[in-house]
Order: sequence, then structure tokens, then C-alpha cells
Amino acid sequence: MAMKPKVLLTRLLPEGAVIRLSETCDLDVNREDRALTRDELLAGVRGMDALLCLLTDTVDGPVMDAAGSGLKVIANYAVGFNNVDVGAATARRIPVTNTPDVLTDATADLAWTLIMSTMRRVTEGDRTMRAGQFGGWAPLFMLGAEVTGATLGLYGLGRIGRAVARRAAGFRMRILYHDPAPIGPDTERELGAKRADFEALLAESDVISIHVPLTDTTRHRFTLAEFARMKRTAHLVNTSRGGIVKEEDLAAALRQGLIAGAGLDVYENEPRMAPGLANLGNVVLAPHLGSATFPTRTNMARIAVDNVLAAVEGRRPPNCVNPEVL
Ligand code: DGY
Repeated sequence: MAMKPKVLLTRLLPEGAVIRLSETCDLDVNREDRALTRDELLAGVRGMDALLCLLTDTVDGPVMDAAGSGLKVIANYAVGFNNVDVGAATARRIPVTNTPDVLTDATADLAWTLIMSTMRRVTEGDRTMRAGQFGGWAPLFMLGAEVTGATLGLYGLGRIGRAVARRAAGFRMRILYHDPAPIGPDTERELGAKRADFEALLAESDVISIHVPLTDTTRHRFTLAEFARMKRTAHLVNTSRGGIVKEEDLAAALRQGLIAGAGLDVYENEPRMAPGLANLGNVVLAPHLGSATFPTRTNMARIAVDNVLAAVEGRRPPNCVNPEVL
């Protein structure tokens, strides 16, 4: 009897994914409600045909080598794949896959949740209520920024950036974007978005929302120097990857009033936060919830499993980020 392909799943996914993988594969699952340690990952991946991993797993050359020469795919359960050393995978001719598209709307919704929450001071208000500190309506109490008609700056106009732009139409916003990739005039027209250089994006936006992947170029793209060039009334929202913002500089900028507020879903060293950030009233802090809806996480699992099954069955994985290895 032919051997079943061996698959390591580094953490439990929605049930359907586990059932589908178990039907045709010899599945090894981490059933504990925690990420695998480095040593566990190195030991667990040995002899595997496929690794289905999470953004919390660092998958580098040593992990790939620990798997041995049979590793046919690294399927990341995320659209972002900065946790996987794609260069090392390509050098070893291992396809790396991600889960694009299905989390676009959920992530754009969360970006908007943070835009609204920080500009209208919703979580600050919530804390005020809970502390019994609401002294009654007053003309100058807890005033925030006007969202309608404000200038929205999108750093990155890929799938998620565009979905955020579409949602801005209801708020009659002026939309600026900065993206190194060419965006056609039709898309610009459809979104009502105008290309801006990075300096103009910083200087003119009332709220900047980040939608680029974390790469060597985008790491620490926002530091104290950039915050100093933003409006003092501006807000920053990040639902992409924490490392794009130098977090200790953001905390300093918020403390010093260089910008008015921020909404964060992602952190430089998750699950930790830069010291001082949690003590600031003008930042809304979400625990990496961008894709955290039932349908989205189920769809991400379906796609990750599709990628695994395609690779182990000798087919082309649908969402390969290094197709040159195929
Ligand atoms: C992703 O898929 O990259 C997201 O960060 C998960 O929420």
C-alpha cells in the first residue's frame, strides 16, 4: 500500500481542514492551544512532506533542513508570509504558499474599525464610562476628529488597501495613496484615489492606514522622523505587520503629541508591545484580529489545505508566492 504523505499542522485550524487533511494524509497536529516552540518545530517537521504553519512560526533554512529533502510545500495560514524565509525556500526549491483574497474584507473592516475608534476616541470613551468618570454631556468633552470629508492616506494599495478605499466612499473622503506598484488610471478612478509621494502622504493625510507587506524596504518605514512630518491632528492605523512601524517611536510620538492617535492590530514583537504603549490613552489596541471572523478563518484553512493537497499530489499549489520553483 502506498504511503500517505506526511503533513505537520503546527496548530489546530477550523475542523473541516483537519478532517480534509486526515482523509488522505498522515497528519501530525499540535493540539495544544499554544504555538510550537522552536525545538518542537525542528523535531516535528522531520520527515514531513508538507508543513502547514502559522504566522507565529518562524520557518527558516534550519527548519527546512530539519524536514529533510522530502518537503514539498510550506503552506502558511496567512496572507503575509514574512515569517517564512522565502529566499531559503526558493534556494531549496520548496514552494511557499499563502492565503490571499479571503481575508481582504475582514481586514479592511477591521482597519475601518480602528480608523473610527481612534478618530472618534471610542475606546477612551469606553474606559471613561467603565471608570464612572462620565460627568454628563458637555460642549468640549472628548472631542475627536471628523471622519467625513477627511483625507485618508493609504500606504499600500493592494487588495486590502483597495478594499479600505472602497469603504471610504461613504465618508466622502479624499483618498491619497502611496504604492511602488503601478496602479492603472481605471482603478484610481474607480477608487477616487490619487497617487502621492511618501512625503505628501505624510504631510496631507488626516489618517494613514498601512497596507503593505513587511519586507526589508518597509521595515521601520514609520519612525519618529516620519511622525514629525505628519499633522499633529493625524492618526495612524496599522493592520498589516507591526515591524513596519518602529513601535517605541510611535509610543514617543503619541506621548509627545506629534500625532493625535493610533489604532493598532499588529505589533513589532507579538504578542508583546513596546513599553509605555499600553499606558497611553490615545491608542486603540487590538490583538491581531484582522482576519478573525468565523467565515474568514474557515476560508483561510480551506485554501491552506488546497495548497498542501495540491503539492503533495504533484499538482501546482494555487497560491504559490515563489512560482519560479514550480
Ligand atoms: C495574515 O493573514 O497575514 C493576517 O495577518 C492574519 O490575520
